[in-house]
Amino acid sequence: MTPNFALWPKAELHLHLEGAILPGTAAELAEKNGVDLGAKPEDLYSYADLSEFLAMYGRICQAVVTEEDFQRVTFEMLRECHASGARHVEFFISPHAHEGIPFATQFAGIRAGIAQARETIGLSALFAPGINREQGPEAAMAYLDACLAQRCDAMAGIGLDYNEAPFPPEPFAPVFARARAEGLQVSAHAGEGGPAAYVRGSIEALECQRIDHGYAVMDDPDLVARCRDAGILFTCCPTTTIYTTPWRDLTDPRHPIRRMHEAGLAVTINSDDPPFFSTTLAKEYEIAHRDLGFSLEALKGSVLTGLAKSWLPEAEKTRLAAEWSGEIDALIAGA
Ligand code: ADE
Ligand code: ZN
Repeated sequence: MTPNFALWPKAELHLHLEGAILPGTAAELAEKNGVDLGAKPEDLYSYADLSEFLAMYGRICQAVVTEEDFQRVTFEMLRECHASGARHVEFFISPHAHEGIPFATQFAGIRAGIAQARETIGLSALFAPGINREQGPEAAMAYLDACLAQRCDAMAGIGLDYNEAPFPPEPFAPVFARARAEGLQVSAHAGEGGPAAYVRGSIEALECQRIDHGYAVMDDPDLVARCRDAGILFTCCPTTTIYTTPWRDLTDPRHPIRRMHEAGLAVTINSDDPPFFSTTLAKEYEIAHRDLGFSLEALKGSVLTGLAKSWLPEAEKTRLAAEWSGEIDALIAGA
């Protein structure tokens, strides 16, 4: 019997605010703000590949306009995560994609949504603005400045996302160096639509300890060994691979997430853009268990690794690890 993974305490470490907007909310906000989404609501979450998905994502961003809108989508996203058992969430935002909306407005709404989640459902959350790699390193530096001008305690890091190839990580090294010097954590999407060299470049040139997706790492055995030894964290998103990578069969024994886990890499299970991919965080755990070869013990290990490598303060991680470990053991024993 499949356990009810929504009962498992866990951290969600790879989720995009704008990719988590519920279809009904997108339609309502578009109507309220007089924005034409350019597609019928039922077609908004249907596309063939990463570029098509990102085009839809961009349209939905246009519907989120006021501070209250940002608070609403942030809170709703966190509430959905909580329903899947998340106790802590680290998410990306794309403030550059909301044309004409001041960053101050966006960040204020996001902060309010995080505070609402903390107060009403006891969920903690941190976020990282994602750099749109397609816009190049100069725009990325200006973007980092604009984000730093709005910095708050919940802004823990910086990410790198959007269409991966042909946009290698190395040109972004000065931007990431500056972010690290400012005390921000760093992670980069790599090895989803780009080669293993982009995973390597994200680790070597950008000094990322966390790679979002990372599937192409399996094409480079030396890099696999290096990532395993260095404890690089891969935030994997099973259902995303059906939509944005050549890996469209999650039961394929050669699926990279299965092989990453078998190779001893530190892998966490995450949901990325759940409504776009018709999934939830709890469903992603079910898939990992049913289709990708993760035993219950392995999933427990993955939850605890994710917590240990999250951007929470060390004392908080130690406290939560003891709590979550006991809860998961009891759930496994009762399963
Ligand atoms: N932005 C949101 N989801 C993404 C993904 N899967 N890859 C790259 N950029 C993204
Ligand atoms: Zn992502």
